[in-house]
Amino acid sequence: MTTLVSAWTAAKVRLKAAGIDSPVIDARLLVEAAASATRVDIIADPHRALTAEQDAALEGYISRREKREPISHILRSKGFWKIMLRVTPDVLTPRPDTETILDAVLPRFAENQRFSVLDLGVGSGAILLAILSERPGARGLGVDVSEDALAVARENAANLGLADRTALLRGDWTWALAQDDFDLVVSNPPYIPSGDIAGLSPEVRDYEPRVALDGGNDGLDAYRVLAPQILRVLKAGGVFAVEVGLGQSAAVRALFEAAGAEDIRVVADLGLRDRVVTGHKKPLGQNPVNG
Ligand SMILES: C[S@@+](CC[C@H](N)C(=O)[O-])C[C@H]1O[C@@H](n2cnc3c(N)ncnc32)[C@H](O)[C@@H]1O
Repeated sequence: MTTLVSAWTAAKVRLKAAGIDSPVIDARLLVEAAASATRVDIIADPHRALTAEQDAALEGYISRREKREPISHILRSKGFWKIMLRVTPDVLTPRPDTETILDAVLPRFAENQRFSVLDLGVGSGAILLAILSERPGARGLGVDVSEDALAVARENAANLGLADRTALLRGDWTWALAQDDFDLVVSNPPYIPSGDIAGLSPEVRDYEPRVALDGGNDGLDAYRVLAPQILRVLKAGGVFAVEVGLGQSAAVRALFEAAGAEDIRVVADLGLRDRVVTGHKKPLGQNPVNG
């Protein structure tokens, strides 16, 4: 008979042998999902038996994880900020590092302020929907080149009760958008240098959409396009924040400086790595410094 605790123990051993970084947590998450149990059940009722169906479901989950499929794909969900998102192989799994964008921008907008947000490369909807969930006066547009990603974002907006404040559009960055239209523009574009992708963990390399990862030769292709485009679609005085990869903050800052952004700051993530470049577009009525 398989019990919650024996299932957890056996799963840990198998995942460790498969080279998984976090076998203890992953095993627990898979047991919880397969046995419809909570973390507390595993501790308080460890000898509860799994049904044959639950046992079979767990076997399926473990063998997928042994092949390095991400937990978020197996469970089809991932927590981000304070919201739970549906995740499929069509979207990047939202990362905790990306929450740095929320830390950087939320203090700039008051609790009930009415404002417009644009999320370029919206993916699952993580950044946009987290902002809308925190700021009830905000309305947002998410753009993505992938129709399949937009379908996931649409489902997440509906699940979170945010569909009436969320518009989603298929497009190539801002090409279809009017200028001077948004109070806030956020983006977590693809930024992995193409040559580095083969060396990523199998969870990322083999399972995340390439269009969500590949930033071209030096990883900066998207920022070259986005810096001037973001400044074009922001209203005067509007705020932007973009996520950057390791070692990219100085180059991305320079691209936004060249595009005319002001008050540019680099914000570190919880691991103290430069993670977000933020700033604003010149407010109306401000004279050029050398003008
Ligand atoms: C790194 S993922 C970020 C997803 C999500 N915003 C997040 O932070 O979890 C980058 C996203 O940009 C989208 N993308 C790539 N090239 C694009 C383009 N030219 N125009 C619009 N979206 C694009 C990808 O489809 C992907 O969803």
